[in-house]
Amino acid sequence: MEKVYGITPHGGQLINLKDFSATTMAEAEQLPSLTINAWNLSDLELIGIGGFSPLSGFMTSDDYHSVVKTMHLKSGVLWSIPITLPVAAETAAKFDLNQKIALRDAKGDIYGTLLLEDKYTPDKTLEAQNVYGTTELAHPGVKRLFENGAVYLGGKVKLLKQPSHGDFSAYYLEPLATRKLFHDLGWQTIVGFQTRNPIHRAHEYIQKLALENVDGLFLNPLVGETKADDIPADVRMASYEAILKAYYPADRVRLVIYPAAMRYAGPKEAILHAIVRKNYGCTDFIVGRDHAGVGDYYGTYEAQELITSVQDELGMHFFKFDNAFYCKVCGSMATHKTCPHGDADHISLSGTKVRQMLSDGIVPPKEVSRPEVAKVLIDGLKKRASMEV
Ligand code: ADX
Repeated sequence: MEKVYGITPHGGQLINLKDFSATTMAEAEQLPSLTINAWNLSDLELIGIGGFSPLSGFMTSDDYHSVVKTMHLKSGVLWSIPITLPVAAETAAKFDLNQKIALRDAKGDIYGTLLLEDKYTPDKTLEAQNVYGTTELAHPGVKRLFENGAVYLGGKVKLLKQPSHGDFSAYYLEPLATRKLFHDLGWQTIVGFQTRNPIHRAHEYIQKLALENVDGLFLNPLVGETKADDIPADVRMASYEAILKAYYPADRVRLVIYPAAMRYAGPKEAILHAIVRKNYGCTDFIVGRDHAGVGDYYGTYEAQELITSVQDELGMHFFKFDNAFYCKVCGSMATHKTCPHGDADHISLSGTKVRQMLSDGIVPPKEVSRPEVAKVLIDGLKKRASMEV
């Protein structure tokens, strides 16, 4: 067994359910199979590599209900978002309890197995309300929840094959490896940064404020499924490379992809994001304004408040930041905590506005986005658009 360096994983142990042996794969070929979507595959992967420690499978009903109602697994360990495997009722009926099932992607390749311990009907309305804070279908996470199958399959999994991360492979590391990396770099304090967006000036500001206080920055962009109007991960990756090269000290930052799907669950997802980064070896985590939010569903600092309430259970340190902007009078990035000037002197644009400008080929002000980043994004989006026509 390889040594697990660094901070104690969530729940005590770093889970490793990888079994890439040819024999296990040959056995799995003989099993009844279930086709899972990209979202479920990314969950399978994160369970298998220990990103979701202490989970060792898709949740059974006792853990599911416990998480939905109490934000804790039935063992009492903090957990904020159910990790489930929804299927249509007809599909669920095909499988028996205690049966092993091969989990295949849309192309038919086997990535794992599930030992079916439970089949249950979730209370989706309660899940939506408690996890997302709303039952409105306009919320992308809630919409997804209700579109999913009516029955959840629960049970332990094994990861039989590494999902491909294509162009991002160079930036893929599993938690065991990032922990070793931080150890080898001599980093004792590591701040994790979650994002589903390109790095804009406010991100850079809060990352660097944190970096003044810790040994290293773990830039961990989410590259799994996001909503259609978010900037696609492949376009974003090039922008991360560009900004790191131009504005960050190479020896104090590591860029690694987070292969999960985005839930847009605001405060609850902030907790999940922190847990996973702890499993990757982070001692610290950044929570800024409206973390993992969408529309007006969450208060600007609700994620910070919820995370503060469970900080002891998480055993990490959090850098919480107010809304950051560029102040023309200060001549620098700032927040209302550090800048006395009025909104008229502040430059900040909404994510939607910036995305629109970039799609139209317009370079956003340099106070909002680094020109190197804007260029890569405009080129990337143009290339994509030309491929889509
Ligand atoms: S998300 O994954 O949390 O949805 P996003 O890219 O929007 O990604 O934000 C990444 C992190 O930066 C989050 O912690 C968020 O709260 C923080 N953040 C984003 N914009 C700002 C801002 N203008 N001021 C302060 N924090 C911000």
